[in-house]
Amino acid sequence: ASTLGAAAAEKGRYFGAAVANNRLGESDYVNTLNREFNSITAENEMKWESLQRTRGNFTFTEADRIANHARSRGMSLRGHTLVWHSQLPGWVDNINNANELRTVMRTHIETVMGRYRGQVHSWDVVNEAFQDGSSGARRNSVFQRVLGNGYIEESFRMARAADPNAKLCYNDYNTDGRNAKSDAVYNLVRDLKQRGVPIDCVGFQSHFNPQSPVPNDYQANLQRFADLGVEVQITELDIEGSGTAQANDYRRVIQACLNVSRCTGITVWGVTDKYSWRSGGTPLLFDGNYNKKPAYDAVLATLGGS
Ligand code: G3I
Repeated sequence: ASTLGAAAAEKGRYFGAAVANNRLGESDYVNTLNREFNSITAENEMKWESLQRTRGNFTFTEADRIANHARSRGMSLRGHTLVWHSQLPGWVDNINNANELRTVMRTHIETVMGRYRGQVHSWDVVNEAFQDGSSGARRNSVFQRVLGNGYIEESFRMARAADPNAKLCYNDYNTDGRNAKSDAVYNLVRDLKQRGVPIDCVGFQSHFNPQSPVPNDYQANLQRFADLGVEVQITELDIEGSGTAQANDYRRVIQACLNVSRCTGITVWGVTDKYSWRSGGTPLLFDGNYNKKPAYDAVLATLGGS
């Protein structure tokens, strides 16, 4: 296979990219996306503030454009994200009554998942619920404040009811190796699985840079989650750097996924360095002119393509 998507497919995995609606008019962007990738995540367009900026008014124009692009090209779609403290409109943040918040969450989850039922294969139901650092504590958010620890379980139950066929994921960053934060997520997932709460997958964002490099125990960490009986997915991969060093880091990440049978797919967080969320950074597989970087060649070769 000569593209990322086709090579990954031969290994039983998808290979996706985060896509921004406002780049879909750029031909180099679209051509690269269409040629190389077989899964799409909306970079921002399926977040709460994008879909329901004011209460009860859903605007799907941009999200639909991305979903339609995926459908028309036979690409699969990852859903990102339903319950998250960030990019959350102020009207949600200001709710302080538990039942009102539950009603609002249910409406949002049902409406959004309902719209993309049958198309989104995996949803990030809850995103980034834990703090960084050594505490393993929950992150402060309106959901945590008003509903307590049970909000995660409640979110997954609402999501299962809204779309029984979608895979339901917990997604986070700095959980890529063993550390206090990933231990906290591990304990959460183990508890949810033991009690029959519907969770199917864990997303490892995998945003790496020199301060936060690919951990040595990356594969072992994926494996311990997989051993809980959930799928693992690499959901937002990017690695700051260039040249051979960057290529080698990418190779390790891809190989780790291939070595874990329940690792079902990889998404890089953007198509080109030109539009990376790390402004000025070069963390992706195509440079600003859509040329393949050494990291691209390493990924393709690791997937068995050429
Ligand atoms: O759309 C507005 C535009 O109208 C306005 O002119 C412009 C001025 O600042 O802002 C635009 O919104 C920006 C949006 O991206 C779209 O480009 C926001 O300011 C900016 O904050 C937002 O950043 C996004 C970030 O999430 C927000 O938390 C990044 O694009 C997106 O890549 C990033 O993605 C997150 C994942 O969702 C979760 N994991 C971490 C990852 C990286 O931070």
